[in-house]
Amino acid sequence: MKLICVLLELLVVVVLLMCAQVYGAPFPAPQIRYCSNTTGCCPPPDARVPVDFFFQPGLPMRVRSAAQFVDGKYIAKYRKAYAAMRALPRSDPRSLYAQAQLHCAYCGGAFKYKGSAWGLEIHGGWFFFAWHRAFLYFHERILASLIRDHTFALPFWNWDNQLPIEPLGNIIPCYFDEVDNNPLYSPNRAQCARPPNIVDLAYTGAGLNGECPDMEGLQDSNGEIMRLQMSAETARLFHGNPYRYNTRGGRSPGNMERTPHGNVHVFAGDPLADLRLNPDTQQKYAAYDDMGNLNRAAYDPLFYAHHTNLDRLWDFWIKQGGAHTDFSDPDYLNSKFIFYDEKQNLVSIQVSQVLDLDKLRYKYDDMINPWLMEPPLDPPDEIAPSPSMYVPPPAPPAPPPEMGMMRTIAEAFATEPSPGPTADPTTCSPTFGPDVSRIIRYAPPLRKNGTQFSTTPLTFRVRRLDTTGKGFEVLTFSDLVMDWTEPAQIHAFLFLPNATAASISCPEFFGTFSHIPEAARTRPKDFSMTWTLGLTTRLREIGKLHVRHVVVTLVQIGSEQLIRFQDAIIEIDSS
Ligand code: C2O
Repeated sequence: MKLICVLLELLVVVVLLMCAQVYGAPFPAPQIRYCSNTTGCCPPPDARVPVDFFFQPGLPMRVRSAAQFVDGKYIAKYRKAYAAMRALPRSDPRSLYAQAQLHCAYCGGAFKYKGSAWGLEIHGGWFFFAWHRAFLYFHERILASLIRDHTFALPFWNWDNQLPIEPLGNIIPCYFDEVDNNPLYSPNRAQCARPPNIVDLAYTGAGLNGECPDMEGLQDSNGEIMRLQMSAETARLFHGNPYRYNTRGGRSPGNMERTPHGNVHVFAGDPLADLRLNPDTQQKYAAYDDMGNLNRAAYDPLFYAHHTNLDRLWDFWIKQGGAHTDFSDPDYLNSKFIFYDEKQNLVSIQVSQVLDLDKLRYKYDDMINPWLMEPPLDPPDEIAPSPSMYVPPPAPPAPPPEMGMMRTIAEAFATEPSPGPTADPTTCSPTFGPDVSRIIRYAPPLRKNGTQFSTTPLTFRVRRLDTTGKGFEVLTFSDLVMDWTEPAQIHAFLFLPNATAASISCPEFFGTFSHIPEAARTRPKDFSMTWTLGLTTRLREIGKLHVRHVVVTLVQIGSEQLIRFQDAIIEIDSS
């Protein structure tokens, strides 16, 4: 009798466990039958059970080269491969159509799971780099098999390279731009993105009123953006925030996904595409189709060359070593995605399988990364202590003024000459010497019930943590809200209350947030984002690791949005 009771109890536990919602787990491989076709992107029904991905050690080591350096022979092969891919019927999962649709399905939350409220969104969180690597892997293998050349590798569009030496890396390569009979061409690209215009890595369209970005100074600002974004110290800053099964995703991308990845997309897409009819659907395209719209981006072959460059930068970031490591969280490593391989098999691959390029049998041509050569900053005489160690200032700062006074701080510092070497207005840092304590004293803390700002820069102070921890200090803005249908660009500075758009070459520039409206997507009403910025390296570079408070100034560039956030707190990130 007792045994029966125990068995019954066990059975109840098992049933309960089976019914329970699983929160915080790896994503299982999506099933096509649960794809919800609201965005019209689901793959055709396919009842097969996906086969597990396996490595192909026999593949030749394929080399992805910089798009500006490939020769005519390669371009011919590259074009032939895309011509073949475009020629496949749409029902063929290897066709460019089906490839683009698959990307769309993964970016609109179309892949639902039985018993889970949320669909999978591979953008805006920690899967961004890993998912795209897998997608590129299969895409490239399909192209290779279509031209029966197993050495074929995609090129990378080297937009981060600002060297003003021909051939330029930071323009769309001309062989993408030839209109006639060119399978690499897309009519849905911005006029402003056509060569010889160079790419604008902070492009949002904001403040331009349809004009092309001014190329003057663009190389410099692109270099600054690259240097800053690639200096992400932790996996979370680089890849984006953790995102687990049965939770809502897409709200906290890493540095690189937002800028320059998103900006390059919208720079390349045609802002006027909505004036034309899509011959397939007889409906109008959306503004910024194709590249500037995730639902259609992968219809443009440029998409894949854009993403190989991101993939290369991920590889480079890891190879820099030190704290640059990927997540070791099993919810990350064991999450699975499905793709179609070159034989049209449905394949399931997990994140842990894309972390080693050798095993995937490809590599990148060595390329200098000129943004690394930005002149190293001369920090003032100070030993660089460990990340969260500081020496408390001798006296506590005076009580801050009321919020309203803040608006005048920038002017106060702009007009009030400060003593010492920092009085020179051409230097970025007014903050070495006695000024920093004054800046801290006058900057108010944030209000507890949320903060908003618009075109007037916002300056506030945040207290650093008292504890020392293993990891890096990051500043996280929670519940960031704006009009998501409009573009926005915010730059963040440390101890620089009179920062302007031009201050991005200052060492105090420590983060940027771009919002790119996606005409084809509507955000839920309560949509908000999280924005996380690294502090430790910046504080060290400007010699401010010892201070108890940081003073942050947010400046909107070009856009004129009303921007709100709930709080900005400093945490230790040990990812
Ligand atoms: Cu899946 Cu560049 O986007």
